[in-house]
Amino acid sequence: MRDAKYDILFEPLAIGPHVAKNRFYQVPHCNGGGYRDPSAAAAMRGVKSEGGWGVIFTEQTEMHHTSEITPFIELRLWEDKDIPGLRRMSDAMKVHGALAGIQLAYSGINGPNFYTKEVPLAPSALPIRTFTNDPVQARALDRTDIRDLRRWFVNAAKRSKIAGFDLICLYGAHGFGIFQHFLSRATNQRTDEYGGSLENRSRFAREVVADIRDAVGDTTAITMRVSLDETIGELGFSNAEVREFVEMNADLPDLWDLAHGAWEDCSGPSRFKEEGAQEILVKGIRELSTRPVVGVGRFTSPDVMARMIRQGILDFIGCARPSIADPFLPRKIEEGRIEDIRECIGCNMCITGDMTMSISRCTQNPTFMEEWRKGWHPERMNEKGESQTVLVVGAGPAGLEATRALALRGYDVTLAEASTTLGGRVARERLLPGLSAWGRVVDYRQYQISQRTNVETYFDSRLTAEDVLAFGFEHVAIATGSHWRRDGVARQHVVPMPIDAAMTIWTPDDIMGKVHPENLAGKTVVVYDDDHYYMGGVMAEVMAKAGATVILVTPSAYVSDWTRNTLEQGAIHVRLDDLGVDIRLNRGVTAIRAGQVETNCTYTGRRKAIACDAVLMVASRLSEDALYNDLLARQGDWADAGIKSVKIIGDAAAPAPIAWATYAGHRYARELDTPDIGDALPFRREVTQLEPA
Ligand SMILES: Cc1cc2nc3c(=O)[nH]c(=O)nc-3n(C[C@H](O)[C@H](O)[C@H](O)COP(=O)(O)O)c2cc1C
Ligand code: SF4
Repeated sequence: MRDAKYDILFEPLAIGPHVAKNRFYQVPHCNGGGYRDPSAAAAMRGVKSEGGWGVIFTEQTEMHHTSEITPFIELRLWEDKDIPGLRRMSDAMKVHGALAGIQLAYSGINGPNFYTKEVPLAPSALPIRTFTNDPVQARALDRTDIRDLRRWFVNAAKRSKIAGFDLICLYGAHGFGIFQHFLSRATNQRTDEYGGSLENRSRFAREVVADIRDAVGDTTAITMRVSLDETIGELGFSNAEVREFVEMNADLPDLWDLAHGAWEDCSGPSRFKEEGAQEILVKGIRELSTRPVVGVGRFTSPDVMARMIRQGILDFIGCARPSIADPFLPRKIEEGRIEDIRECIGCNMCITGDMTMSISRCTQNPTFMEEWRKGWHPERMNEKGESQTVLVVGAGPAGLEATRALALRGYDVTLAEASTTLGGRVARERLLPGLSAWGRVVDYRQYQISQRTNVETYFDSRLTAEDVLAFGFEHVAIATGSHWRRDGVARQHVVPMPIDAAMTIWTPDDIMGKVHPENLAGKTVVVYDDDHYYMGGVMAEVMAKAGATVILVTPSAYVSDWTRNTLEQGAIHVRLDDLGVDIRLNRGVTAIRAGQVETNCTYTGRRKAIACDAVLMVASRLSEDALYNDLLARQGDWADAGIKSVKIIGDAAAPAPIAWATYAGHRYARELDTPDIGDALPFRREVTQLEPA
């Protein structure tokens, strides 16, 4: 059972009229499913209830149609029709005794209203502030609008109560909720009783809380989520003002939910933010109010969590990503199974589901958002099928996850790894600057596998088709990974680019294998990034730290373009700039010659040469699929060898981020020995119900 030092995390605590059974508080987080996939989102919350969370929140819920954030897919509570979908979610949250919370968002200056075509309303008439600089402005709320808005909040609160929620969170953090827009002088430039002094800027929050309390306060707790520091300079809602605001309104909500600055700050990736990074901003605020405080900080260590409570910094441990990576985190602490915690790696892949309006994934927890769609559970596998033995070739993220999950199903698994370490690409990438936490992908699986008697691991085992046929395992999963291309093929060049053999060309594999000189002082290295995720930026960092003059050339308008979806892009640009990297955007590389690269403008095609000593090519990757192809060529021999199936998974099938690999490994393990579904859809989905024509 649990260690007594964690008892403090399991003490019940009241939030308004309710009592949370413990201190584990799943703060609001979206999932890319929202109103489009209500049952998938509800089942995901239900699994967290089973995992022991004391409080579970929805994602932000658009509480009125005059403020919505299309194209992002969140929840909606616009009319009574929305109640049943939300009721399904609150029911799921409460099954195992968690309190169910709903976050009400009025997006104000952050809502472009593309879908409803309503004129956006905000404290002051300013351009809408979104990721995409939409060409839309808000109209300033007049007094009648403010009265209307207060009533809309009450209507939403009443609907939330009918939908079964115990807690209502008023969203005023991350620049996304109207409470912050009123509180900040940057977005509230009013000269009436709602603007100017902090007292005036707080008026709207006080009025809404009072209105909701009158309407549903006897049964529903009200929490307020505010940013700890808007981090936009003098005009912003600073940490000092947050403290003043809390002191001035000490007993306003039933709980203060404190979350740092912009979303990028709050959900900072591990590359730029340590666990508990918000401690300094939150410390001391609890003493300004009699109400409990929840705070966040990618908490995965129970010792850090217990310290936060013991030292009186927080009353509740807020978790978004740690609850995604391991929905059973509280239960594992309670059962004394600390080693079984699947720690979040801080890669922010979960956020990309929201940013790409798809559905979220988690690198560590491949079952995230598949609880209803595929019936996957994060802790339990389906029963073992008729076969017994499986050979997994390759111990990268796909092979490791397949091995772990197959072993859990009860198969006898043999894992063959060509090198002397587990982890494949992760074993190498975890050594790159800022990526050490990614190693948890390996650590978690390595430990889980070590606990099972039905897995045998062989190192130094680069297998041939002949070897595999001779072994005679019933099933073979080929998870042999991929390697970076040296020939420049990616998006700009779909066939190899002209490269003079006189130029030194490195790939990320070379750099991870340390083939380059340790000291590159006096050398100029061009990093050509046509991959656009993190690797180009990381490679530039490695080169700069080795002393090289680094010129990063990319056909994109942004450094590490795709990391805008993981909320890292700004921080990467800053880091490279701080390291003195010369960033050349909107430029490709047309040819590599002796002593120089020839670059071209993405728009005009105009060419310019850059003199350099080496080119670090971050283009695309090639699957290591030779073994698979050799086995396919010998398909006629499979039956005699006792082989029923050979499948290729992960990067070996098609290179992609690590989350794709763990998903592929998990899927392989789930589907082994299951009936062929033919052309049927391999997941459940919800289709919009048609109204009468
Ligand atoms: C995928 C994802 C979606 C999020 N969506 C919301 C949201 O809808 N409302 C909100 O207030 N915060 C949202 N957040 C921020 C989290 O609530 C939390 O404050 C932040 O991630 C820091 O906590 P963590 O380190 O435990 O992840 C989201 C975070 C993530 C990772
Ligand atoms: S996707 Fe990455 S950051 Fe998000 S919860 Fe999973 S491991 Fe953590």
